[in-house]
Amino acid sequence: MQDPSPVSASIDADEIKSASTLLKAGQLVGFPTETVYGLGCDAGNAEALARLYRVKGRPGEHPVIVHLSSVDQLKDWAETVPEQALLLAEKFWPGPMTLILRKSDKVLPAVTGGQDTVGLRIPSHPVALALLKEFNSGVAAPSANRHGKISPTTAEHVKSELGDFVAKVLDGGQCSVGIESTIIDLSGDTPRILRPGMITLEEIESVLKDAQKSEQKDNGNGSSVAPRAPGTLSSHYAPSTGMKLFSHRNLPRAIATAENLMMHVSVMAFSDPVECPAVITWKQLSEDPAECARQLYATMRELDGSGADYIIVEEPPELPEWMGILDRLRRAANG
Ligand code: TXA
Ligand code: MG
Repeated sequence: MQDPSPVSASIDADEIKSASTLLKAGQLVGFPTETVYGLGCDAGNAEALARLYRVKGRPGEHPVIVHLSSVDQLKDWAETVPEQALLLAEKFWPGPMTLILRKSDKVLPAVTGGQDTVGLRIPSHPVALALLKEFNSGVAAPSANRHGKISPTTAEHVKSELGDFVAKVLDGGQCSVGIESTIIDLSGDTPRILRPGMITLEEIESVLKDAQKSEQKDNGNGSSVAPRAPGTLSSHYAPSTGMKLFSHRNLPRAIATAENLMMHVSVMAFSDPVECPAVITWKQLSEDPAECARQLYATMRELDGSGADYIIVEEPPELPEWMGILDRLRRAANG
């Protein structure tokens, strides 16, 4: 996949230093990555991690991804670094990929959610890389949104949702990828995709022939067992307004139904806008998956605030390059 560098990312060395100092002091810092904005803290500081979980409203057994600036640092966090990890790193890092490896002894339970694996990622956003280099250790960072809500793709999203609870938010412009990283589990016998993203199964297979889609069954929010990758729970990434998905064919009928029910809807679709009293806002999505991913979360946020009774979404095609987007839409519709 293409990972265009963000348009408006300027790096202010003083800002980076100050953000790194805050992280060293156990504070939380919002920062841009190419996928979505992260809510960062020192991955080696248990108190900072506890604060991070509180601010996010995240259940304790959910693991967080540790962000690094170089492949050399993998050995500090992983028990062993398999050859497959190095091959994938060579091809996709820095970039929108997270690897799940068996954890080293030093990794705190709050990072792993008590599991024996750790999620690791080297992001490509220049501001993220500058911060990680300056900090020179692992930064734990979930997406900088409240648990289960829409991930932020601008600094404004982070400030409006979590601004009162973080010491600083670094502004790196709009995220260039727009949905969260592809997560690949290398801790078992066969590489498995735990969360699809803009790096596709086909691209991963070009490096690892035996990679598979996850066959993991959703074990639901109420499960007492720590889920392997809780971001893959069926209800996630959700706007507060209900969202319903329809195929291209069923879209006109969905709008007619809203009109018959005297409901107001907002629409996110690939098709051209339809004039209809039931429709408050119609947002047309790009038919290019990379561009669509970039627009997706900001559009969902906008429609969430449009006052609609519910949001109608036209489903993208079931093609490899749409899998990450389709996955997020289906989870959001389950919210
Ligand atoms: O693109 C991204 O990955 C963004 C940016 C900020 O890097 N981060 C992100 O973090 O999406 P978060 O916490 O919202 O989602 C992380 C996902 C969760 O589904 C979590 O369960 C999974 O990664 N994860 C983290 N560590 C794991 C582990 N050891 N085993 C299985 N899944 C893990
Ligand atoms: Mg998240």
